[in-house]
Amino acid sequence: VWSVDKNVDNLQSYPQITESAELLKAGQVVAFPTETVYGLGANAKSDEAVKKVFEAKGRPSDNPLIVHIASKGQLEDIVEDIPEKARRLMAEFWPGPLTLILKHKPGKLSNLVTAGLNTVGVRMPDHQVALGIIRTSDLPIAAPSANTSGKPSPTSAKHVEDDLFGRIAGIVDGGTTGVGVESTVLDCTVEVPIILRPGGVTLEQLKAVIGDVQQDVALKNQDTAPKAPGMKYTHYAPKAPLYLVKGHPAFLQRLVDEKRKAGLRVGIITALEHEADYRADHVVVPGSLAELDTVATGLYDALRQFDELDVDIIFSESFPESGIGAAVMNRLEKAAGHQVIDEWHV
Ligand code: TXA
Ligand code: MG
Repeated sequence: VWSVDKNVDNLQSYPQITESAELLKAGQVVAFPTETVYGLGANAKSDEAVKKVFEAKGRPSDNPLIVHIASKGQLEDIVEDIPEKARRLMAEFWPGPLTLILKHKPGKLSNLVTAGLNTVGVRMPDHQVALGIIRTSDLPIAAPSANTSGKPSPTSAKHVEDDLFGRIAGIVDGGTTGVGVESTVLDCTVEVPIILRPGGVTLEQLKAVIGDVQQDVALKNQDTAPKAPGMKYTHYAPKAPLYLVKGHPAFLQRLVDEKRKAGLRVGIITALEHEADYRADHVVVPGSLAELDTVATGLYDALRQFDELDVDIIFSESFPESGIGAAVMNRLEKAAGHQVIDEWHV
């Protein structure tokens, strides 16, 4: 594990950056921070390197990886044609938490990265450490989130260590990540782009730039197969069962009281504004309703905390679905395995 101060200028000359870039060039896998979550990077052109990513994470091989780039030149090298709407989105949101699905040029990337699809997800991360490593390695870097498959994505180097220590060549510690949920995945191969995974760039922000934007119907309908292969897997789940509760704090508290009366140890995930309303064995606060961004930033750490606390069952409040709230609720629904308790639809 190397530490890096992300506020220092010209990180490219940092030994941690050059050393991890050397490891990537040598076909090793290295974890590094981005503005969303930590990524587990590998040379996207090398089958052997990319194979190590799937092995370290225990990731199913039908789930393609996002390719991270540091310049437009790197993009032109790997993708076929860039639609006008994709160009406008890049101009507005790159570097940033937006992954664009585009047609790739055959033979430029390992087939394992794309899981055999004719498209690839590409993004330019908004983080000096990530950009420094990509630039110094001079490679497109395939990087999924640096967690064990199924666990919440890592928002600190400690989370990466907890999951992958001993399984990868190194971890660059750049402190906690800012956005906290992963990038928005947007399919740009169709006339009206489709959100396959809600994330750091919101539906509202996308619409403001390109007008019409669709959302994959599978995000709200479990009977439909998602267009992003990774979205079909259980994910983000703490060890204890989690229930997502729609209703007033008093309703959630009654659920907690019932379980505690039955002898269970109960955890709650709540917004700061409602913290004082609850009595439970553990009350964890990812952030505040007044600034929904803070809930996204703290969400995965909150979910991971319960694995170290002694709880038998967890109830989470629901959050507004506007803006970044769409990504927060998507992750909570998945963490809960779609077990929702609704005060008004019991
Ligand atoms: O913020 C992020 O996006 C982080 C950081 C490290 O950049 N990365 C990340 O990667 O979340 P990962 O591999 O955990 O999630 C990638 C998602 C998966 O759901 C995958 O199925 C989808 O993007 N995806 C990748 N390539 C795709 C493609 N060609 N077509 C459809 N979905 C794709
Ligand atoms: Mg992931």
